[in-house]
Amino acid sequence: MKISVSDIQKKKTNNEPIVMLTSYDYPTAVLEDACGIDIQLVGDSLGTNILGYTDVSEVTVDDMRHHLRAVARGAAHSFVLCDMPYHSFQSSGQALITAQQFIHDGADGIKIEGEKGGTEIIKYLVEQGSIPVCGHIGYKPQFDGHARIQGKDAPRAIELCESALAIQRAGAFMIVLELIPELLAREITNLLRIPTIGIGAGRYCSGQVQVVNDISGMSSRTFRHSKEYAGLRTVLNDAVTLYADEVRQKAFPTEKNVSRLPEEAFAEVSAWLVNRRTSNGI
Ligand code: KIV
Repeated sequence: MKISVSDIQKKKTNNEPIVMLTSYDYPTAVLEDACGIDIQLVGDSLGTNILGYTDVSEVTVDDMRHHLRAVARGAAHSFVLCDMPYHSFQSSGQALITAQQFIHDGADGIKIEGEKGGTEIIKYLVEQGSIPVCGHIGYKPQFDGHARIQGKDAPRAIELCESALAIQRAGAFMIVLELIPELLAREITNLLRIPTIGIGAGRYCSGQVQVVNDISGMSSRTFRHSKEYAGLRTVLNDAVTLYADEVRQKAFPTEKNVSRLPEEAFAEVSAWLVNRRTSNGI
């Protein structure tokens, strides 16, 4: 059974942590689904983690749709959340068209970066399109340039509380808090009825989100807010290096990797080749 918005919200009520992880392709989606990830996020971090872009602002709606469709095919149980990329929600009308395309491609909800000034778009998506919307405040990669902690002084911290309340009022079902101090994230979580999902926001959010490349050790960078649970980059590097060495040394493929022509068929082909050479005068 697919995880629904109400399943996610019940987890906050029951004080059960919500597990969210980015997902960008079919094999990862199948794996995350089997591991019981609640929410797979097709994040616009796709741009820097998978597509080789230098900034998330380069990610297009078509990029997102291509990867979303692959994830949706693999996620039978997880809720699939898709990021609205930069410049895809400059008006309510444009936002609704983008969100409807994502829902058509298999998203169960969309995530949109923005603070209290942008909540009319959330309201429009929820009321006009019945789209489940997740807000995203604190550090907003699409708009804020270099990653840095937000809400370290009282006016900005209060602004973030007001934004969270405005996003909830607009009808969002959940909200991501990125790079904000732990105690501020705790207060926002207590202030809201809807769940909060933290990344670099400490231990007291309703759930956590991480980038799959970071937790699996595929990234070349490490982050304070993250943890490497495996060393996939090293494992893959060793496998690729060994493969290249073995091909160059003719140690791969071996007897085990080949198929054989039955003796009779081989004899027939050999005879045909001899005949062809003779008739061509070679
Ligand atoms: O795109 C992304 O990966 C995200 C998470 C960092 C929340 O938005």
